Amino acid sequence: MTTRLTSAIEQRLWTAAEAAAARAYAPYSNFHVGAAVLTSEGEIVSGCNVENASYGLTNCAERTAVYRAIADGKLSRGVSIAAIAVVHREHESCTPCGACRQVLSEFGLNAIVLYEVEGERKQTTVSALLPESFQL
Ligand code: THU
Repeated sequence: MTTRLTSAIEQRLWTAAEAAAARAYAPYSNFHVGAAVLTSEGEIVSGCNVENASYGLTNCAERTAVYRAIADGKLSRGVSIAAIAVVHREHESCTPCGACRQVLSEFGLNAIVLYEVEGERKQTTVSALLPESFQL
């Protein structure tokens, strides 16, 4: 079920994502991204992108947030992602990449995705970003 976000929670997600973007490790692309996941239990967990000299090992902010939430015990089989905010440090346009869309779909097809395009805040869902997604 898609949860309706209150503006207070939405603001907390943007703020957490912005704080995470400031911690991004992105010396190669210089594209600093932060994400904040809201779980169905009301927990907020943030993450940033982590790059590597071996470029392909880069982990996006969204996946860092999801994996951290799992590792912290805040996301599990019975818990879903209600929403995720994604933001670039200088507010450049940023939507989740294909790999992150697939990872997000594992934990909530109806999750709300907050993102920015040309400085404007937008909202969609994981299922809209990844139609007919692969599920087991
Ligand atoms: N990146 C993210 O962290 N999230 C996105 O939604 C798009 C791209 C990162 C990966 C890489 O470190 C940098 O941004 C440039 O692609």
